[in-house]
Amino acid sequence: MIDLTTTYLGLPLKSPIVASASPLCESLVNIRHLEDAGVGAVVLPSLFEEQLDLESQRVDSDLFRGSESFAESLDYLPDMHTYNLGADGYLELIRKARQRVSIPVIASLNGVSPGGWARYAGLIEQAGADAIELNIYAIITDPNILGADVERNYCDLVRQVKANVSIPVAVKCSHSFSAFANMGKQLDAAGANGLVVFNRFYQPDFDIESLEVVPSLTLSRPQELLLRLHWVAILYGWVRADLAVTGGVHSAQDVLKSMMAGANVAMMTSALLQNGIDHATLVLKDLVCWMEVHEYESIRQMRGSMSQRSVSDPTAFERGNYMRVLSSYVVRHTG
Ligand SMILES: Cc1cc2nc3c(=O)[nH]c(=O)nc-3n(C[C@H](O)[C@H](O)[C@H](O)COP(=O)(O)O)c2cc1C
Repeated sequence: MIDLTTTYLGLPLKSPIVASASPLCESLVNIRHLEDAGVGAVVLPSLFEEQLDLESQRVDSDLFRGSESFAESLDYLPDMHTYNLGADGYLELIRKARQRVSIPVIASLNGVSPGGWARYAGLIEQAGADAIELNIYAIITDPNILGADVERNYCDLVRQVKANVSIPVAVKCSHSFSAFANMGKQLDAAGANGLVVFNRFYQPDFDIESLEVVPSLTLSRPQELLLRLHWVAILYGWVRADLAVTGGVHSAQDVLKSMMAGANVAMMTSALLQNGIDHATLVLKDLVCWMEVHEYESIRQMRGSMSQRSVSDPTAFERGNYMRVLSSYVVRHTG
């Protein structure tokens, strides 16, 4: 009997596939379906700092955003009262999901600035969430802000949310740091129980007819996994926090690679949106088949086996790889 169980944020999970935050996890019907399809946990779609500020009418001025610009900036946002059920509806979703499914329910808070809104984490805990995923989605456009200040701000935010709850807190990270390995360690030291690697940043597109900047969302491709594997493999063994891969997990092979890099769980959204929730069942079947053929008994057994610490050539994750990759390209057409 193949053992697919894992632990994530100290929670026992029946399988290493987690449905990451998306509108798919916004309805109870889907959350139950995801549990039946075999996923180990669900992350609810994010509740935004802007929604919570709006709710409390408390606007903290901070490093990233002056309070006077906040009201103005809200004009550009979708209707934040009703987005993702709104703050009260969100707590209700947590309560109901907690009653109806036995897999862990992880709530998601999306913010950038330490402020009064982070107290909402306490309400999320009271509503019954098993953990919180903190999505720090900051795009620093001000050229006067230093990277070190951004890093400090991230850690302050983690400490603030942690101070409000006793449930575990994972941080969904950006990969845009000069030294991500060190950032991972800083977040770990700030108390993050998990690092979710990585946030997918959505760049706006240009409409060249109307000369407008337009939002653009494309689902992920499996190639996006490589960036995540790279950094999980590097972080493994350096941080106490559990590691989760998000971005480009579509198949059983992608889940296997994530585990071998050192992740506790592999998160999925695009593949489930594209193929339907039952895709998770197929991936789990493929996973078991592969493990039987390759004589693995458990997911735990393979965890970290391809991390930088475990492989025979650790330079494969470093600068040496760059030179090897470039020199491996064979030019066939010279024009
Ligand atoms: C339509 C859509 C909505 C999403 N909403 C959220 C969200 O509310 N909060 C969040 O942290 N991530 C959100 N994500 C990002 C996903 O959780 C996930 O990290 C990302 O899609 C990469 O994983 P994938 O390759 O499996 O799709 C969303 C993604 C999509 C496609």
